This record gives sequence, structure tokens and C-alpha cells, in this order.
Amino acid sequence: MTTRSATPADADAIARIYTEGIEDRASTFDTHPHAGTEIVEWFDGIHPIVVAEREGVVVGFAGASTYIPTEWYAGVWHFDVYVARAWRGRGVGREAMDRLIAESEAAGCWKLVSRILSTNDPSRRLMGRLGFREVGIHRNHGRLDGTWRDVVVVELLLGEAARAAADRADG
Ligand SMILES: CC(C)(COP(=O)(O)OP(=O)(O)OC[C@H]1O[C@@H](n2cnc3c(N)ncnc32)[C@H](O)[C@@H]1OP(=O)(O)O)[C@@H](O)C(=O)NCCC(=O)NCCS
Repeated sequence: MTTRSATPADADAIARIYTEGIEDRASTFDTHPHAGTEIVEWFDGIHPIVVAEREGVVVGFAGASTYIPTEWYAGVWHFDVYVARAWRGRGVGREAMDRLIAESEAAGCWKLVSRILSTNDPSRRLMGRLGFREVGIHRNHGRLDGTWRDVVVVELLLGEAARAAADRADG
């Protein structure tokens, strides 16, 4: 297995994997299947997206994105991670996240956050193994197919280096 930075050429593969996650109705409020053309817009030149490959085939991805668009939260990034259905539970998510964490830190991120459906045990377990802290639970935070669902907020503080760089930029 290898991991690498993703490029827009990976958009179709990422779309297929994300759409499987959507169809499972277990990990996102998003309900419409995605096309590669939508995924291309995720590449903003700031936030890293990474893919995990087995024998040259993309089997998982992890990506960071804007958390809240204000300058004081510039180093707090939201993230997502999805593994192709046939490859789950075989270490792909962990490897993709390891790489995303490293690339995010190198790019100046000082905290990764996400919101996980409270029933998503595989994701909560993976985040726990990676050192994420469960900050708390938002009750009835959104509706999935008409049912109100709780989400768990998770966060991982990244290295001193990114926070020091932000301090320096402030003078
Ligand atoms: C959640 C997800 C990304 C995890 O990736 P993965 O490749 O399946 O997980 P890994 O094989 O790297 O395993 C990481 C940890 O999660 C645990 N895990 C994986 N699948 C699990 C399952 N079905 N139930 C319980 N724990 C599970 C593993 O046991 C491992 O923990 P351990 O080291 O204590 O054994 C993947 O299952 C997935 O894509 N699910 C659908 C989409 C999704 O939920 N994305 C997250 C949105 S927040």
C-alpha cells in the first residue's frame, strides 16, 4: 500500500469512493451522488487531499477543507476520510489519515476537526487510535433522510511548528 498527494486526475476515483459512503447512509448528511467534476473543486491549492493506493488503484482518500472562513481560524481545518467499501477494516483509513495529518501540519494547519455521526463506530474508533479527542456531542445536529442525528466533534492538535508560524505571522 502506498499513499500520495492527490491531484485533480484522482477526482473520478475519489467521487466513486465518496459516493459509496453516501449510499451507505452511515457517515455523512450528504445524500446526492458525486461526480468527479464536483470533486475537482475541492482542490483549492491550500488544503491537502491524499489518496491511498493498492496495486496502483485508489482505494481510499482523506482531505482537508476550510473549517470556518475567518482569518483567526485559518489553521483549523475540517477533514473527511473515506475508504472503498471492499477495502474497509484493512488499514487504509489509518494510512490515509497518517499522511493527511503529516501534510496538513507541514502546510501550517494547527488543528484538524470533524463531526462524526455518533453511530459511526469505525470512524470513532479510527480517530481514537489516531489520537483525536472527542470534544462533545451536538444533539440533533442535522437530518439524514428525515431523521435527526447526533454528531461527535473530534479534534487533533497538531505540532508546535504550525502554531509558532502563526505567532510569527502576527509579529
Ligand atoms: C471509517 C473508515 C474511514 C475507517 O477506515 P478503515 O480503513 O476501514 O479503518 P482501518 O482499517 O484503518 O482501521 C482503523 C481502526 O478502526 C477500526 N475499525 C475499522 N473498521 C471497523 C468496524 N467496522 N468496526 C469497528 N472498528 C473498526 C479498526 O479496528 C482500527 O482500530 P484498531 O487499530 O483499534 O484495530 C472507513 O471504514 C470508511 O470509509 N467508512 C465509511 C465512510 C466513513 O465513515 N468515513 C468517516 C466519515 S467521518
